[in-house]
Amino acid sequence: MARLHRRLLPAMIALLLGGLALFSALPTTAEDEPSTAKDPDQESIFQLIAPRAGEVIADVGCGKGTWTFPLARAVGAHGRIYAVDINRRKTEQVEARVKDEKVTNVEVIHSVADNPMLKADSLDAVFVNNVINHVDRSALAGFLSGIRSALKPSGRLIIRDPNGGPGRVVAECYRHGFTLIEAKVPLENVARPSFTSGWYALKLLRADRMPPALLPRLDKPSRHLTRLHLAEELYRLGVLTREELRSTWEAIENAPGKVDPAVDEPLDLINAAEAIGALSPKTATKLRGRVKKP
Ligand SMILES: C[S@@+](CC[C@H](N)C(=O)[O-])C[C@H]1O[C@@H](n2cnc3c(N)ncnc32)[C@H](O)[C@@H]1O
Repeated sequence: MARLHRRLLPAMIALLLGGLALFSALPTTAEDEPSTAKDPDQESIFQLIAPRAGEVIADVGCGKGTWTFPLARAVGAHGRIYAVDINRRKTEQVEARVKDEKVTNVEVIHSVADNPMLKADSLDAVFVNNVINHVDRSALAGFLSGIRSALKPSGRLIIRDPNGGPGRVVAECYRHGFTLIEAKVPLENVARPSFTSGWYALKLLRADRMPPALLPRLDKPSRHLTRLHLAEELYRLGVLTREELRSTWEAIENAPGKVDPAVDEPLDLINAAEAIGALSPKTATKLRGRVKKP
């Protein structure tokens, strides 16, 4: 019996260690609390959010408040964090913690899918972590417009998401009046593995004005040239990978019914793309030079 135990012991230890390794490799949920000291997740994303003492920030889709409380500490007693969620159970959880820990600078908002219910022109920044892909497609326009109108004129929107390939999200943000200023694709130093195609983070600013209806127009095959240039610009900003850029080119080039754009149209579109920050002034000037004169 003792011999059997001795033989089985190494196998049991190996099994136990293997189990532990497997457990630690399992994806943890985004709702796990970031640890306090030197959390790599927090460091990498706080570089983009750049929360400052006294600022007013909303954590939209806050869940149980994983990021709400670190943000509340960052803005300090003179700042304020709005913890917003559509799920009553989550908002109650955050409210309970606010009460238990006697936190004075967090306010909880129970919102609806297409309206984060934030006061107009009141926020320095909005943080949206692992939420954008949970927002119902039909609610996305209201969700983003609500965030835009709640931001102060030069307010910032930071989106962090584990579902890689942020092209669609960037396009939706342009459409709803945001300018992309920084993209981390992929986002480094993320402790929790992504379930799908990798974490990314975007920093956008509330644009001065709403864009002309650019993207719906770009969907038309006759606008293929400008779509190519926008794809190039997104690649330059690090939003599209080289591989995605190539497949985007192919998709645009193979668009059925492709026709040469009429003379004025590319100019309109380049101007519009520049106005919303999709093209830098330098690139826009270069592209304008490429448009054939009549
Ligand atoms: C995966 S959890 C992320 C929670 C939290 N941001 C975090 O990182 O731990 C997604 C959260 O988004 C919330 N949510 C989904 N759609 C929303 C919407 N349209 N407006 C506000 N919150 C929303 C859900 O209720 C859920 O709590």
